[in-house]
Amino acid sequence: MKSFRGIAFVLLVSTALSAFAQPKEHSMPHLVKRDGRYALFVDDAPYFVLGAQVNNSSGWPGILPKVWPAMEFMHANTVEMPVYWEQFEPKEGQYDYSAVDALLAGARAHQLHLILLWFATWKNGNAHYMPQWMKLAPERYTHVIDENGRPVDSASPFAEASLEADAKAFAALMRHLKSADAQRTVLMIQVENEAGVYGTLRDYSPAAQRLFAAPVPADVQKAMNVSSGMSGWHDAFGSEAEVNFHAWAVAKYIGQVAAAGKAAYPLPMFVNAALRDPLTPGAPGSYESGGPTDNVIAIWKAAAPALDMVCPDDYQTDTAAYVKVLDLYRRDDNALYLPETGGSPRFFFFALGRQAIGFSPFGMDFTKILDIPDAARPKDELLTPWARTGTKEFIAPFVPVYSLIGPIDREIARLNFEGKLQATAEEPGKVTQTLHFGAWDATVSYGVWSRRGRPAGNPQPMGGAFIAQLGNDQFLVGGFYSRVNFHPTARDMHGEFLSVEEGFYENGVFKLVRLLNGDQTDGGLDFNSVPLLLRVSVASH
Ligand code: DGJ
Repeated sequence: MKSFRGIAFVLLVSTALSAFAQPKEHSMPHLVKRDGRYALFVDDAPYFVLGAQVNNSSGWPGILPKVWPAMEFMHANTVEMPVYWEQFEPKEGQYDYSAVDALLAGARAHQLHLILLWFATWKNGNAHYMPQWMKLAPERYTHVIDENGRPVDSASPFAEASLEADAKAFAALMRHLKSADAQRTVLMIQVENEAGVYGTLRDYSPAAQRLFAAPVPADVQKAMNVSSGMSGWHDAFGSEAEVNFHAWAVAKYIGQVAAAGKAAYPLPMFVNAALRDPLTPGAPGSYESGGPTDNVIAIWKAAAPALDMVCPDDYQTDTAAYVKVLDLYRRDDNALYLPETGGSPRFFFFALGRQAIGFSPFGMDFTKILDIPDAARPKDELLTPWARTGTKEFIAPFVPVYSLIGPIDREIARLNFEGKLQATAEEPGKVTQTLHFGAWDATVSYGVWSRRGRPAGNPQPMGGAFIAQLGNDQFLVGGFYSRVNFHPTARDMHGEFLSVEEGFYENGVFKLVRLLNGDQTDGGLDFNSVPLLLRVSVASH
């Protein structure tokens, strides 16, 4: 018989061993709002999603070897990966976790976090990711019916069987994550993808017609400030009645899917929008109907409280339009997050400057080669972005920005959450911008080619910079294709650099590489194509 001391020793050793084998408990990722600013907290500290979204069909285990090297090349800290309902539930009620498990294992092996995209009832307005057993039973899993009584290639938000199946499958996914992801590799979940419908303004099925004839639900009336006594959809919203109705229906459905998932495992959840034109929105019908477009954000908030954010897929290439989208989705009741974006890498600085919690360009993996013969390419490279995704050439423009921000992502997230960081990027026709920091103004100028030169703007807008205030007279500065200077706000004072330290952060501590001076700083802090991080002390007299 073993002695008491012997048993105690065995217990001690086995407890120690099992503690060693168990992944460390990490706290749940969650959104925090303080002083009107939002942050995604990961391991109890603000985290910036320096993200990348893969192409639609790149979430399969056999394709992942073409994803991870792209993430390393890009210097992303988080990858957004689809989870396909058709793969996850090949037979009704039978769930296949193999693809999700491959994502978890691969992301961990490459020190990446994941944001999962639940491609289910809606993907770009269609129901193409529904499992085959659902596609083969359209009488049960019904489609939207258009005004002429014809079925549309989109799920009806009133199909109770579809809602039940989606919510059940999604809850199974979240339950699995709860047990398989103590490490919290997964940070957030996008529920569905660009939900809504094209080709009709709303569902005209009998179930939809009944509800369209009923009063606007009280929570929607309140959210949209409907005048009392105007409770019919047409009375309340006029020409917007149909899109608002469909938005309410889709939001209600997705809100219930999200709530079922959250009951199993409450990660932050969001939806993404195919946008309407931000500067000159067209009439209903000119954009996807029912999705979280800017005009119906309040309806989504009211109808789907389980969702933490509604997010824009910002593919605008015009600077003013891009920025307008950011302004429309950064709201007191909504953290700004870009689950899909494209265009100029400098747009990153516009998003950062508006306290975005993350930024994820779309189409980032090595699944394609640029196989369009040079001779066949339009001279100005006006290929649609989708024709170029999945290549090194497509990712490369983002590498400098990600290389700059990657090593300081935690500092950037914290400084932004504390309201100490500002960022901006070049706008056509504007050669200098001024940012205000208490007793100091910082100017960001573009196209200054000599020590005492005047800013002329870059040949095409490409510059950007961030400036964070570390102390009254100390700043952290980084950027590209720009010159940054500091001026005391008091007009009768002169300012000068006390020190300009080039360096990097290691475990939260700034490490000096060298002091810059002379040609490198006499005209200001010059940023070109190479990632450069500066800690700058200034003095005034
Ligand atoms: C927006 C969608 O949300 C993405 O999944 C993808 O389809 C892109 N458009 C374009 O390829």
